[in-house]
Amino acid sequence: MSTIRVAVDGPSGAGKSTLARAAAAALGFLYVDTGAIYRTVGLSARDQGVDPGEETAVAAILPPLRIELRYDESGQQRMFLNSRDVSEEIRLPEISRYASAVSALPVVRDFLMETQRELARKHSVIMDGRDIGTVVLPDAEVKVFLTASAKVRAERRCRELEERGTPQPFAEVLQDIEDRDFRDTHREAAPLRQAEDAVLLDTSALDFQQSLEALLRIIRERMVL
Ligand code: DC
Repeated sequence: MSTIRVAVDGPSGAGKSTLARAAAAALGFLYVDTGAIYRTVGLSARDQGVDPGEETAVAAILPPLRIELRYDESGQQRMFLNSRDVSEEIRLPEISRYASAVSALPVVRDFLMETQRELARKHSVIMDGRDIGTVVLPDAEVKVFLTASAKVRAERRCRELEERGTPQPFAEVLQDIEDRDFRDTHREAAPLRQAEDAVLLDTSALDFQQSLEALLRIIRERMVL
């Protein structure tokens, strides 16, 4: 049987990773969080003291990088950088900024393209990112553009930060989300945009369970077409 490819794109904080992971578990597909791969490159730039906006400097650190995705017993994706587990470190706010900057560089996007495509050739996947339906897997069987208003995304993020014991003021979180949205949608290389054949799923008024059901419905409908 050939593999099924589900592309889930959308802005940061829309709940893509939680929803895509849960949908992948329900369907028995591999979940691939491509943001984590960009974050790993961002971390490497930070560790090596490289300006993440300098294309030539970033290009120089790419060839020796060994970036691996591994899956633990519970199916959770873990990121390894040169054999070091960096799964927690890449979630630091500072690394979000590095990831956003390096992801705007064509040299980085080209470097990571084959890794992402290779995963989708070997497994049925739900891959989440910004350009999966438009650039990485333009022939994906299912494409979903998952979004929510900036205000709702900031509220969700604030709750998450509070639960983690690292609360941040709402205004700051909202500003951060708006800045990242702007950078991700205005960059020249593979900007965030909805693919023409993607189904729009706005979760602003939905809770987690409702969002998951809606996502699974979209995927199942497309799979039987
Ligand atoms: O989804 P995330 O917030 O973990 O992604 C981190 C950064 O990487 C974000 O600024 C957007 C970028 N990214 C990208 O450009 N293309 C992808 N396919 C995934 C993430």
